[in-house]
Amino acid sequence: MRGAELSIILPTFKERGNVAELVRRLDAALTGIAWEAVFVDDNSPDGTHQAVKDIAQTDNRIRCIRRVGRRGLAGACIEGMLSSSAPFVAVMDADLQHDEKILPAMLAKLASGQADMVAATRYIAGGSAASFSGHRGRVSRAATWLTRRLTGTPLSDPMSGFFMMRRDRLEEIAPRLSPVGFKILLDIAATAGERLRIAEVPYVFGARGEGESKFSIQIGVEFLGLLLAKMTGDLVDPRFIYFAIVGTTGIAVHLAALKLALLLLPASPDPFQTAQIIATLVAMTSNFVLNNELTYRDRRLKGVAMLRGFLLFCVIGSVGVLANVDLASWLYTERSGWWVAGAAGAIMTALWNYAMATLFVWRAR
Ligand code: GDD
Ligand code: MN
Repeated sequence: MRGAELSIILPTFKERGNVAELVRRLDAALTGIAWEAVFVDDNSPDGTHQAVKDIAQTDNRIRCIRRVGRRGLAGACIEGMLSSSAPFVAVMDADLQHDEKILPAMLAKLASGQADMVAATRYIAGGSAASFSGHRGRVSRAATWLTRRLTGTPLSDPMSGFFMMRRDRLEEIAPRLSPVGFKILLDIAATAGERLRIAEVPYVFGARGEGESKFSIQIGVEFLGLLLAKMTGDLVDPRFIYFAIVGTTGIAVHLAALKLALLLLPASPDPFQTAQIIATLVAMTSNFVLNNELTYRDRRLKGVAMLRGFLLFCVIGSVGVLANVDLASWLYTERSGWWVAGAAGAIMTALWNYAMATLFVWRAR
């Protein structure tokens, strides 16, 4: 039997109720095409992977990658695409919101050599995102506008997670893609640059099947990080940007905790020192938790590993502070201006903390 011409990658998290219907719809839409579907499930607690594997037992076009200890839409899509040996790969949501009936038209544009990638879009004539709730629709339109302004991307719907492309082009750029966040299409287009010829096909964004959306504020912040990284031409790793954002919130947390402690502490010989120690601990804890949930979400620590990670994080942070003071004082005595010395110390600490945290606290498995 010949291999597939088209692999459809379907990232899932808690989509058990949609799997069977989705396979039925793909089967109906793709007659005459040699296709396979690869579900990439992040160990959903509702047993989505089991539902997929039950179908796979009777239909060898269906496969399932069950990922354990990892979370993230973009990373799931990348792994799914890299598992394919077909010349063309597509990515689409598994909750029935993406219209599978346009897949043949997308494939035709690739197969004829007109384009290297075909993006499905809600924002050209023939497409629509009317099924978004009023609030979510406004957020999506604003984010789309901002993204297009900032990145200059040719995509009319850069936030979409629905596209198809030549696998050879994907394989070239895969090592440079970010596994964090929701915005896989924008990342691919921005990373590949102008050499990637993009075509678009309109579709009507549908209503979700069973279950609920996994979109969240966190995903929004992650997206901002991706935008910044792409604007600096990948000079800055998005992970470092999240780390820096978290660090900045830490300053606000520190000051708030300091103020509160000063108000609440009983009169003592040196209330400021005690308050400053408390504020430092509060800020370290909040930084650790935010980094665990956001910056290193795909390597999130739990239980004992989290406790161990937290202690290590505090040690690294303390060394960072000492190094900061050291460097800044030295620069200052070498007659740098106070702000040059101060800023150099702070930047060095941020880089040190980031490097050490990535290497030792949240190390890649
Ligand atoms: N493997 C995996 N891991 N899959 C995930 C994860 C994850 O961490 N998070 C979400 N998914 C899967 C969902 O199960 C679904 O199949 C698909 O990714 C889209 O997730 P939704 O939770 O349904 O997202 P949405 O509908 O709110 O967001 C839509 O609009 C966004 C912005 O316009 C999607 O079309 C997104 O792709 C799009 O970026
Ligand atoms: Mn959805």
